[in-house]
Order: sequence, then structure tokens, then C-alpha cells
Amino acid sequence: MWQIRPERPEDSPLVDDLSVKSFGPGRFAKSAYRLRDGVAPDEQLGFVAVEEGILRGSIRFWPIAAGTVPALLLGPLAVQSDQRGRGIGIALMTRGIEEARAKGHRVILLVGDPPYYARVGFTPVPRGRLRFPGPVDPSRLLGLALADGALDTLAGTIARARIDEPVCADGAPLG
Ligand SMILES: CC(C)(COP(=O)(O)OP(=O)(O)OC[C@H]1O[C@@H](n2cnc3c(N)ncnc32)[C@H](O)[C@@H]1OP(=O)(O)O)[C@@H](O)C(=O)NCCC(=O)NCCS
Repeated sequence: MWQIRPERPEDSPLVDDLSVKSFGPGRFAKSAYRLRDGVAPDEQLGFVAVEEGILRGSIRFWPIAAGTVPALLLGPLAVQSDQRGRGIGIALMTRGIEEARAKGHRVILLVGDPPYYARVGFTPVPRGRLRFPGPVDPSRLLGLALADGALDTLAGTIARARIDEPVCADGAPLG
């Protein structure tokens, strides 16, 4: 049986490899990657699913700004293709969401398939409230409030949270 644990620095190459296999080389063209350029993921919110020492899945969260409010961007979330349907994706998200709430984060946003993310509580962000920096289907912009009413007051442009140290194209720190 797989287990979820925090991502460690030595997991990084395997996590990146899983990301390449799951999303392909075109992933950097996605609008969500514009929010990750030059910004490191939240190092306390990376988790992996491991079974008998083998990486089965991973999740990371990126700090972003939703208007003037600090928020998290969920993803990438990826599960090895031959291990899907075992509950790993939901378990990774549940763990990440719990930890984010415990650390005082107030809201998580993502771009993805509404029926899947509804399983962990995400709902569509009301149209016209938040502008994404790039083309996204508005029905796929989803949010989860970790504190009462945290989604209700969001407005403005979604932007990079800050510029950290230089990073590789997939968001991993250099070196
Ligand atoms: C999306 C992904 C992470 C799901 O991982 P997983 O471990 O298979 O998910 P789980 O086992 O927790 O959940 C599987 C359930 O969700 C459903 N599901 C999976 N992807 C779905 C989607 N895009 N839309 C709706 N339902 C979906 C499955 O049909 C399954 O339903 P069931 O429980 O009724 O059988 C995995 O398919 C993946 O890595 N895909 C490629 C990368 C990707 O698209 N990531 C998400 C975008 S960031």
C-alpha cells in the first residue's frame, strides 16, 4: 500500500520526471506556468506517494497572489499512469489541503476539471471576479476556501507571488 509523505530534496528528479511523463513538453506553455516562472514551490507543501520505495505520485503548491490576497495554486498533481484510480490523487490533495489549512493559508486556486476537484471541495470561481494571466477556460478556474468566506471577497488579477531565486524551467530550484 502506498503512503503519503512530505517531498524531500532527493525526490525532486523523480517528481520532475513524473511531471514530464504526465504533462509532456508542452506543459510550460500552459497559463498556470506563468505563475510559477521564477518562483519556488511552497517547500512545506510538497508531498509524494511512495510504495515500497517507488514514487507513485506527487503534488506541489505554488504561492500566488489573488488580487491583493496571498493564495496557493494547486499543482502540478500527477500519478504514475499505471497507478491511477487507486485513490492516490485524492489522497495527495487531501494531505496538501490539510497541511495548507494548518499553516494558516486561506485559499487555494487551480485550473482543472471541475468534477475531479469537486471531490475535495473545489468549486468554480464566479465569473468575472478573478483574471488569470493568460488564456484559461473560465469554467476550469476553481477555488477552495480554507477559512470561512475566504473565496467570497477575492477580486482582481491572479499574479506571481514574488520572485525567488532562479529556477529551472519546471520551477525546480537550480543547483
Ligand atoms: C488526474 C490524476 C492526478 C488523478 O489521479 P488518480 O490517482 O488516478 O486519482 P484518484 O484515484 O484519486 O481518483 C480517481 C477517480 O477520479 C476520477 N477522475 C480522474 N481524473 C478525472 C478527471 N479529469 N475528471 C473527472 N474525474 C476524474 C476517476 O475516474 C476516478 O473515479 P472513480 O473513483 O469513480 O473510479 C491522474 O489521472 C494524472 O496524473 N493525470 C495526468 C496529470 C493530470 O492531468 N493532472 C491533473 C492536472 S494538474
